[in-house]
Amino acid sequence: MKFKLTDKIKKIIARDSKVIMTTTRGDIAFVASHGAGDFVYDVSGNKFIDFSSFIGVYNLGVNSTKSAREAAKKQIDLLMHAAFTDYYAELPVEFAENLLLMFPNGFGKVFFSNSGTEANEAAIKYSKLFTKRQYSLAFYNSFHGRTMGSLSLTSSKLAQREHFGPFNSVVHVPYAYCYRCPFGKEYPSCGMACVDYIKKYPLAREVSGKEVAAIFVEPVQGEGGYVVPPKEFIQGIREIADDNGFLLVSDEVQAGYMRTGKFLALDNFGVQADIYTMAKAVGGGLPIGLTITRNSLGDAPEGAHSNTYGGNLVAVAAANELIKYVKKNRKRLEQQTRRKGKYIIDRLNQMKERYEIIGDVRGLGLMIGIEFVKDKKSKTPAPQERDEVIVESFNDGLLMLPCGPSTLRIIPPLTIEQKNIEDGLEILETAIKKVNGQR
Ligand SMILES: Cc1ncc(COP(=O)(O)O)c(C=O)c1O
Repeated sequence: MKFKLTDKIKKIIARDSKVIMTTTRGDIAFVASHGAGDFVYDVSGNKFIDFSSFIGVYNLGVNSTKSAREAAKKQIDLLMHAAFTDYYAELPVEFAENLLLMFPNGFGKVFFSNSGTEANEAAIKYSKLFTKRQYSLAFYNSFHGRTMGSLSLTSSKLAQREHFGPFNSVVHVPYAYCYRCPFGKEYPSCGMACVDYIKKYPLAREVSGKEVAAIFVEPVQGEGGYVVPPKEFIQGIREIADDNGFLLVSDEVQAGYMRTGKFLALDNFGVQADIYTMAKAVGGGLPIGLTITRNSLGDAPEGAHSNTYGGNLVAVAAANELIKYVKKNRKRLEQQTRRKGKYIIDRLNQMKERYEIIGDVRGLGLMIGIEFVKDKKSKTPAPQERDEVIVESFNDGLLMLPCGPSTLRIIPPLTIEQKNIEDGLEILETAIKKVNGQR
């Protein structure tokens, strides 16, 4: 179905630009109305297949499951807010109990907040509190949020940091971005030079490992460009953390909650973190952030960290239904996510053979990126071509989002039907073919 840009859409966008502070929107004139399953509709009845899951929020389908919606509606009439950090309520406790069943043994404490950035703020504070150390390590290209603590870790774009310093004490190190290896090497003959670098330089010259509280890692870099590291990279980081007695924090805000074919994205690498952070898909459309810590780290003293809305009953009512669904359907969701992800990656790799502007295809489960380049040899990033592909696809009824300098992310709901995958890929290939031909 061809997108129709109506007066209604134009008017809402014009009103928006007068009163809403500019954020991160691109050129997509999508004005939301309603949706379910694999589809969303705008205010003029234009219909789209969702390959965005609204940035990893609708992992279980657009507008989430019926049971989550019904639980939230019921809770609205009972009591919306219980000041859960000051009084008690059973629902957040039940949700935490259900959530922890999805975690490895030994994870027993949950802190509730309302977003990914807050989940990471809590992780920064807990890592400092539990280790009594001051510094953090984080990766170039990373995204952990935009409030001052998490922004200190974030380094995927200069615009995100410019004018906002000085920051917390964070030392940044290169991520294993193998398509553009910062050391000019190739995997696996590189011998994991990026892991060695951390030991040889930052930890030998800039900051003592004894003063580092934690290293923060996205198991798959999200906003930085959907970068999937080799297993040895994450394993190497775990070893460095252990050797120096600091904590490993896995930021699962985008990669977690089954997105990569495992509930915890870090499980793909055969290691465990000490603290996990989650948000986005957890509330399936209602704001919720989670910071989950190992029992052995202990508990926080009263007053060290808290908030107003953490454990909000409406958000938790939905999240509890979703986690019960995920737990019950765990095997099926894992298998389907991996199978659909492999299918899409195979199809994209075939497209890569056909079109010069596709430089790299990579992904884990249904967290898939296509990196666009001017040509395969020079690998010069092609943000304009990437954006044109998004707009062309949108005009043909497919909703997607960019990430990193020139990557297109494909993150449909995990529950997407095969037919809609096929239709979406056909629209995408038509767009790529057109943009490729226009060069
Ligand atoms: C890995 C990661 N961490 C943290 C965040 C921040 O989450 P929020 O926007 O909910 O603050 C994001 C958001 O995209 C993310 O992808």
